[in-house]
Amino acid sequence: MQFRSGVWAALLACVQTASATLQIVPGATWTASNGLHMQAHGGGLIKVDDTFYLVGEDHTNGAAFQNVNCYSSKDLVQWEYQGALLSLTNTTGDLGPSRVVERPKVLWNERTGKYVMWMHIDSSSYGEAKVGVAVGDTVCGKYEYLNSSQPLGFQSRDMGLFQDDDGTAYLLSEDRANGLRIDRLSDDYLTVVNATYLWPDHIEAPAMIKIANRYYMFGSHLTGWTPNDNVYTTSTSITGPWSSWTIFAQSGSLTYQSQTNYVLKLSNSEAFYLGDRWISSDLGSSSYIWLPLNISGTSVSMPYFSSWVPNVSEATAEGSWKVSPPNSVYEGETGTYANGAKTVSCSGCSGAGSAGWLGGPSNGTVTFHQISSSVDTMTTITIQYRNGDSAPRFGAVVINGGTPVKLEYLPSGSGVSNSTLHTLLQKGNNTITFGGVGDTTYAADVDRLIVPVS
Ligand SMILES: *[C@@H]1O[C@H](CO)[C@@H](O)[C@H](O)[C@H]1NC(C)=O
Ligand SMILES: *[C@@H]1O[C@H](CO)[C@@H](O)[C@H](O)[C@H]1NC(C)=O
Ligand SMILES: *[C@@H]1O[C@H](CO)[C@@H](O)[C@H](O)[C@H]1NC(C)=O
Ligand SMILES: *[C@@H]1O[C@H](CO)[C@@H](O)[C@H](O)[C@H]1NC(C)=O
Ligand SMILES: *[C@@H]1O[C@H](CO)[C@@H](O)[C@H](O)[C@H]1NC(C)=O
Ligand SMILES: *[C@@H]1O[C@H](CO)[C@@H](O)[C@H](O)[C@H]1NC(C)=O
Ligand SMILES: *[C@@H]1O[C@H](CO)[C@@H](O)[C@H](O)[C@H]1NC(C)=O
Ligand SMILES: *[C@@H]1O[C@H](CO)[C@@H](O)[C@H](O)[C@H]1NC(C)=O
Repeated sequence: MQFRSGVWAALLACVQTASATLQIVPGATWTASNGLHMQAHGGGLIKVDDTFYLVGEDHTNGAAFQNVNCYSSKDLVQWEYQGALLSLTNTTGDLGPSRVVERPKVLWNERTGKYVMWMHIDSSSYGEAKVGVAVGDTVCGKYEYLNSSQPLGFQSRDMGLFQDDDGTAYLLSEDRANGLRIDRLSDDYLTVVNATYLWPDHIEAPAMIKIANRYYMFGSHLTGWTPNDNVYTTSTSITGPWSSWTIFAQSGSLTYQSQTNYVLKLSNSEAFYLGDRWISSDLGSSSYIWLPLNISGTSVSMPYFSSWVPNVSEATAEGSWKVSPPNSVYEGETGTYANGAKTVSCSGCSGAGSAGWLGGPSNGTVTFHQISSSVDTMTTITIQYRNGDSAPRFGAVVINGGTPVKLEYLPSGSGVSNSTLHTLLQKGNNTITFGGVGDTTYAADVDRLIVPVS
């Protein structure tokens, strides 16, 4: 079966929508242009011209290093898989088999005209505690891996990068023996030159931004893959003094079950938090908790939204995000079945059950004929689904008779999970069919569709 590729660019080019409601849905399966859940864990963002690049860890096949992947997007919602910047080699060394390569972050060095990537480099037992560096000529092309070291002779595990307004860049580095460090990088960003600040506190997963001449450092306590209430500190000087560490998400929520990986500055008043919800037994099924931060002077807070609408177009008079519109809900079992699909009972599902036996040898389908919209709009349909398997399932979705779109459904355990479909809805009634990918495997059971009112 042929799945559409590069379709988002095509759709965006031809559809001028007054009020797109493309959403970020924290914790959902996030299918990219390649039909797979984004594999960019522990990642970072870099914006080049009007495009965001997400660079992170590929955990398709478990914890050990496979690839540092790169995805691109203009809206932070629809991500196009671009390829791997670094990949597993078959020789021993930092990028060889059974190695740890985590938290890759990329900066552009204006002096050298190169993209510079730093990342945590380790053995599978995390005994080496080093940081590695690579360079690239293009942001999302192949990078040349240079070397690794313990910066200034200190252990380094979780790390981040920060680039100040004057172009000076810093490595943020968790040193288990001493605390959390800010170390200055050389002008070419390829080496660590000296120490800028040391917190004696044990904080990892560091991410720093500067907004309106104030620095904000975010990080996590040390609880392994298990989440905790992450914290921030702020200062008007990178050399301190820094305020005491304070939580920013709802107390006890364990940062909505996530760990900081990056903070994206959008303007002098707005920034987004990017966190990982790690699934330690299956890292590739880890999801992304991205939420807007509320930053006001020394105070930072992060309320929860089950979905929200980023707006990162150049003109930001209305701000860089808004709350989602209300939803219409379509129960899976109210759709029209074909080819053996039928309602299955489902604990934890809403309504009378879910639409099951989708895909499989007879390619069962469920079709919704009246997904209504009052305008032509790009929007995000959240599919609440059941996949009780330990591996992901895949399905195809056909919208108004178009080319099938492949969607991933991460394991949902005994509950229901969300998977997001970013699509064009036409004014009037839309017909959407959910089925299998045509390889005899089953798609997930569809509990219900959550469609923003438009
Ligand atoms: C290692 O990779 C190189 C380059 O891809 C290939 O030519 C070579 O055959 C591989 N060696 C082994 C032992 O797999
Ligand atoms: C890593 O490579 C860079 C660029 O060649 C070099 O400047 C630096 O000294 C090297 N660092 C180590 C620890 O070898
Ligand atoms: C660190 O190195 C930079 C660049 O060489 C220098 O300007 C700065 O004074 C040094 N800082 C410390 C604390 O040694
Ligand atoms: C943002 O934070 C400020 C200051 O803490 C608070 O007054 C305001 O209510 C918050 N806004 C939202 C939308 O949470
Ligand atoms: C995004 O913001 C721009 C500029 O403020 C505005 O023109 C546009 O309508 C907004 N888009 C959405 C989807 O809200
Ligand atoms: C799925 O999305 C719905 C609607 O946005 C939300 O209420 C629910 O909490 C989400 N479920 C999970 C497991 O995140
Ligand atoms: C959608 O379909 C229903 C049932 O066929 C019909 O009553 C309704 O008028 C349609 N709406 C639009 C906007 O076409
Ligand atoms: C299975 O159904 C999907 C729609 O869900 C369709 O796109 C696909 O072509 C069908 N595959 C086969 C092999 O019939």
